[in-house]
Amino acid sequence: MTKIISPSILAANFLRLEEEISIINEIPDIWYHLDIMDGHFVPNLTFGQPLIEQIKTIARHPLDAHLMVSNPDFYLKAFRELNIYNITFHIESLADPVSLLALARKDYQSVGISLRPGTSESVLTHEILSHIDLLLVMSVEPGFAGQKFIESTWKRISHFKNLKEKNNYRYAIQVDGGVSDKNAQQLFEAGADNLVTGSYLFRQKGKYLEAIQKLL
Ligand code: DX5
Ligand code: ZN
Repeated sequence: MTKIISPSILAANFLRLEEEISIINEIPDIWYHLDIMDGHFVPNLTFGQPLIEQIKTIARHPLDAHLMVSNPDFYLKAFRELNIYNITFHIESLADPVSLLALARKDYQSVGISLRPGTSESVLTHEILSHIDLLLVMSVEPGFAGQKFIESTWKRISHFKNLKEKNNYRYAIQVDGGVSDKNAQQLFEAGADNLVTGSYLFRQKGKYLEAIQKLL
């Protein structure tokens, strides 16, 4: 699997978003990670359709929506026309995960599931794991950029990597939260395929190619 870096737009400079995206557009193997928070599933509030509509006109890499919302059914429908490549739902927000995944598959090429750091791994049943393209392992409590990587994530990555190999699941493992040049190499070695980066990347003020090469 090609290693992917997913810059989280939330940490970009929104006053110069076009410039930020145009620099990242030139870098290969990138997804644009869109953190959608509703102020309810998580305390923080970010952005929705109007901004994604605009991002979609300039972004040259796949859009990756991470839904931290209490009403995922609404967003599933509302985001249909936004050219989103991967859509990830939090398991904690789903009443009937299997039906929702089946519905999402009709409109999105890639469908993911995420779990908060405190959620038991056992809630992700074979039925769920065999139907997803991406498993987003949260390495911070969802809600804010700039938090410290939670160390118990290592065990979780190896758990899901082993399950994947044993059962021949196809999901890519994405890790989100507190990723930097200090842990990226180890994360890839541990089994991650896709790393989200917010604060680490956008702190480098325009030197994004170098920063991403460091992560890889
Ligand atoms: C947290 C978000 C992350 C976050 C990443 O709820 O899902 O995508 O913005 O930011 P950093 O890399 O700063 O931890
Ligand atoms: Zn995210």
